[in-house]
Amino acid sequence: MQATLGLALLLADTVRTKAVFAHYMVNSIIKDHAQQDIDDAIAMGLDGFALNIGDSTQSFVNTTIGYLFNYAAVKSFKLFISMDLSAATAACTASQTSCNGPYDYNDIFSYYLGHSAYYVGPNGDPMISTYSAGGLTNTNWTDWKNTLASVIYFIPEFDDTDGYYQAASSWWSYWGDVVDGLFSWDAAWPPSSSLSGTYPGDVSPDLPVIKGAVAHDKGYMIALSSLQYKDSYGGNYYRAGDLNLPTRMQNILTMSPRPDFVEIITWNDGAESHYIGTIWPEQSTNPAAEIYANQSSWPHNAWEPLITPFINTWKAGGTASSMAPPSGTIAVGLMWYKTISQNETCPSTQPTGWEEGTDSLNWAIVLAAGSSGMQVRAISNGVVLQNVGVNPGLNMGSALGLQYGAQMLQLLDSGGNVVMSTGQGACVCSDCPDGIYNMNLQVVGLVDGNQGNVGCFDI
Ligand SMILES: *[C@@H]1O[C@H](CO)[C@@H](O)[C@H](O)[C@H]1NC(C)=O
Ligand SMILES: *[C@@H]1O[C@H](CO)[C@@H](O)[C@H](O)[C@H]1NC(C)=O
Ligand SMILES: *[C@@H]1O[C@H](CO)[C@@H](O)[C@H](O)[C@H]1NC(C)=O
Ligand SMILES: *[C@@H]1O[C@H](CO)[C@@H](O)[C@H](O)[C@H]1NC(C)=O
Repeated sequence: MQATLGLALLLADTVRTKAVFAHYMVNSIIKDHAQQDIDDAIAMGLDGFALNIGDSTQSFVNTTIGYLFNYAAVKSFKLFISMDLSAATAACTASQTSCNGPYDYNDIFSYYLGHSAYYVGPNGDPMISTYSAGGLTNTNWTDWKNTLASVIYFIPEFDDTDGYYQAASSWWSYWGDVVDGLFSWDAAWPPSSSLSGTYPGDVSPDLPVIKGAVAHDKGYMIALSSLQYKDSYGGNYYRAGDLNLPTRMQNILTMSPRPDFVEIITWNDGAESHYIGTIWPEQSTNPAAEIYANQSSWPHNAWEPLITPFINTWKAGGTASSMAPPSGTIAVGLMWYKTISQNETCPSTQPTGWEEGTDSLNWAIVLAAGSSGMQVRAISNGVVLQNVGVNPGLNMGSALGLQYGAQMLQLLDSGGNVVMSTGQGACVCSDCPDGIYNMNLQVVGLVDGNQGNVGCFDI
């Protein structure tokens, strides 16, 4: 009787997986930093990293994933490979070597798929994902899967294929047998010309895809991201931004059907501005990206404590109002803003999507259950832009009218005392100090007590 019940619970668990990962760019990185990344990820409640590998022949690849797998194994943290076929194809085209798509990763798979730290999907087989379909056919993918005897859980990011976001029946008849699950990348920032979403944080572009996945008995991984701003590697564009991340968290908690996995994009992609982990100096090798994304002036780690209550609540089946900070604490929260105004004219090309930008001081706070009468105050250069009551669970706001100078967020108790406030971020400046339309975010966390007027630092 007991044994049967135990088995039934185990099976139920296997069927309804709920795991949260972050997309991790495999770079040249020292061992201590690889280990620190895993410690930080565990501390924020992540289950694992999706290891993004472009050109698999780069000398650092095996070294870096060796550091990660060895440490993950002793920490019960999980890893799986995400083949970045977009970067891999660019690399082999540039070096005029032959592009063999997923076959170029088979050395890695033969060594790591059986590793104790390798993430196992709901079918009991090691999980493999991608970035893009690599321009390959369904037969290409089936042939490759056969080289691994198909004993994998294949959850690719194929949203660059025709009919994907419509969940077209032609899409399913072509790709249905290839995939075990689907992962949608571009839906992370919904208001864009190619997607149906209408506001930052909207999950409506995911809905047809996840419904198609459920109808075909496949899994779904949803993307969660802060923004996309890039001015390097041949790209120059912006996708909002503002309340995208907390709004998507809120929507993911109530959407139906529910996804099986959440993938935060990304842990450490500095060039795309949507990192939540640390940008280590040895991985920053692109000077154009380093201008707007570096750890000393643009740390983003303050996103991490905001996401932890989301992870806990999603796994428990709650909604945004039941999100809670760590027990014994009042709140977790942060503010974020860009440092140049929409009024500026910079001596460089405007990113595509620049007009989506706003001059706003954005914030999110997760308040403990039972708190009452608390308020948030968003202050820009000494001017109170917003003063609003906040409730237990997730609260967020976007205060327009950002001013040049220092930005600050305060959390006040029912007696009007400042109980938490932000530390120092960069000044919003009246020119373009980096010479570019820099839309990366200052991300500044709330800390205990009243920090007073901490000012701002120049960039
Ligand atoms: C990758 O690293 C492992 C040890 O971490 C080693 O055994 C294996 O031979 C390496 N593979 C290649 C292709 O260098
Ligand atoms: C994909 O299939 C085409 C047509 O059969 C073939 O020419 C090509 O080599 C295949 N590519 C890969 C990477 O398998
Ligand atoms: C880091 O960012 C600041 C502010 O944008 C910039 O001035 C500095 O040059 C960057 N650091 C590097 C090493 O590029
Ligand atoms: C940008 O221009 C608008 C319209 O003149 C003005 O209201 C706003 O204060 C300006 N923004 C900043 C940051 O000065």
